[in-house]
Amino acid sequence: MAKSTLSFVCQNCGAAYNRWQGKCESCGEWNTLAEEDTSGSVPVSIRSKRKGRTFALESLAGKSPDAPRLSSGMTELDRVTGGGFVRGSVLLVGGDPGIGKSTLLTQATSLLARTGHRVVYISGEEAVAQVRLRAERLGLSDAPVQLAAETSVEDIVSTLSEGAVPRLIVIDSIQTMWTDTVESAPGTVTQVRASAQALIRFAKKTGAAIILVGHVTKDGQIAGPRVVEHMVDAVMSFEGEGSQQFRILRAVKNRFGPTDEIGVFEMTGLGLREVTNPSELFLSERDLGTPGTAVFAGIEGTRPVLVELQALVAPTSLGTPRRAVVGWDPSRLSMVLAVLEAHCGVKLSGHDVYLNVAGGLRINEPAADLAAAAALVSSLVNAQLPTDAVYFGEISLSGVVRPVAQTPARLKEAAKLGFQRAVLPESARGETGGDAGLSLNAVNSLTTLVAEIAARGSRRGESNPPAEKNATPARFRRGEG
Ligand code: TYD
Ligand code: MG
Repeated sequence: MAKSTLSFVCQNCGAAYNRWQGKCESCGEWNTLAEEDTSGSVPVSIRSKRKGRTFALESLAGKSPDAPRLSSGMTELDRVTGGGFVRGSVLLVGGDPGIGKSTLLTQATSLLARTGHRVVYISGEEAVAQVRLRAERLGLSDAPVQLAAETSVEDIVSTLSEGAVPRLIVIDSIQTMWTDTVESAPGTVTQVRASAQALIRFAKKTGAAIILVGHVTKDGQIAGPRVVEHMVDAVMSFEGEGSQQFRILRAVKNRFGPTDEIGVFEMTGLGLREVTNPSELFLSERDLGTPGTAVFAGIEGTRPVLVELQALVAPTSLGTPRRAVVGWDPSRLSMVLAVLEAHCGVKLSGHDVYLNVAGGLRINEPAADLAAAAALVSSLVNAQLPTDAVYFGEISLSGVVRPVAQTPARLKEAAKLGFQRAVLPESARGETGGDAGLSLNAVNSLTTLVAEIAARGSRRGESNPPAEKNATPARFRRGEG
């Protein structure tokens, strides 16, 4: 008999303790410890008698028999995986419930199955009828996907071991899977880890590619797929605002490809539509000519993406003004505000500041600094920015606008979408390799840009009613501080 070992396992990070405690010392989360049986998967009596088997050692230069990658038929998905599913690899797709993971994978498996590959979809959450209903809605009922509603890993592995090796297996979701070898309840860290281990073993042994679906919940009840992250070859996160139809697939970890690529989709009544030109999507509902909006020419992975930054700067009624930001790094916003205040004399301590990246995109590039600063100042002085201009450049703490990578790609994309001007770092002008037909406004320091926008503000003020004319200079005082 295996001795059962009870321990308290953190459902967030998987750290184990002998005693219950309120806070996990490893990850710092509160109330995430749950009692689990963590005795080994093989009884001790068997373990001690088992003699080691010998295995053949291989050389690094050996050739794999066939094409290592399998294209999914969806360009956006392939872009994120790095060119398709690698044989024998295991990929984890995480995301909030209802974001569209099952929809994405139903579409991908159907496209693959139609090209003649054996593709299996195991649903642990929905009944076969429900999965069929979704496929029907997506117009994919005719695809020869093999479907089952199962949760036992042992049953799944023995079923799939029969017949031809499946080229792709989807397990939706890993939290619903359970294995006989451990005694904890399905959904606990121990079960999720043991089930994932068994499936990964199956993938490596047979060469089938496996996609595990994982729910990310803030709730400690269900083990987040984070414990599985280090076991799998690639982790993709499927993101999006519930209220918006855009969905972004982002590679968080990828042993076989880049991790900075994104795939953009739009959720429609007929499933997910691939968006091959995201700039058009993020700019489609542009608030043309509204003060506080600036278009940022960004790079996501290898692809240029134009996106609109919206700022609202309004006098505050609070002791501590609010700073709220969606889609960008709050600490970068604080930095840009501090530089504006210290070097450009823009006083913002009496104003609430809101910054939003349109379309639900998340920007990680420092190159967005210049566009953010332009949007902020434009909102403060109530002056619209030129509607045909794009902005990019990193702002240093001294207020200097620093060069950023891939200037030509940014300019080309802007020109393609009908923009006429680019506001960019001075030092980037030399390395553009062609200005793509845009008129370039190179700025050396943030002060220059602020002065230009302020000039637009006062010009606009002259033709405005007196109330607003007076308001502008009072709210924006350059040259102080
Ligand atoms: P689903 O793929 O079930 O999400 P997940 O597996 O990540 O939990 O998608 C759920 C949402 O997607 C649901 O709110 C309905 C919406 N949806 C559409 O808008 N159009 C469609 O064609 C489909 C299939 C779903
Ligand atoms: Mg689902």
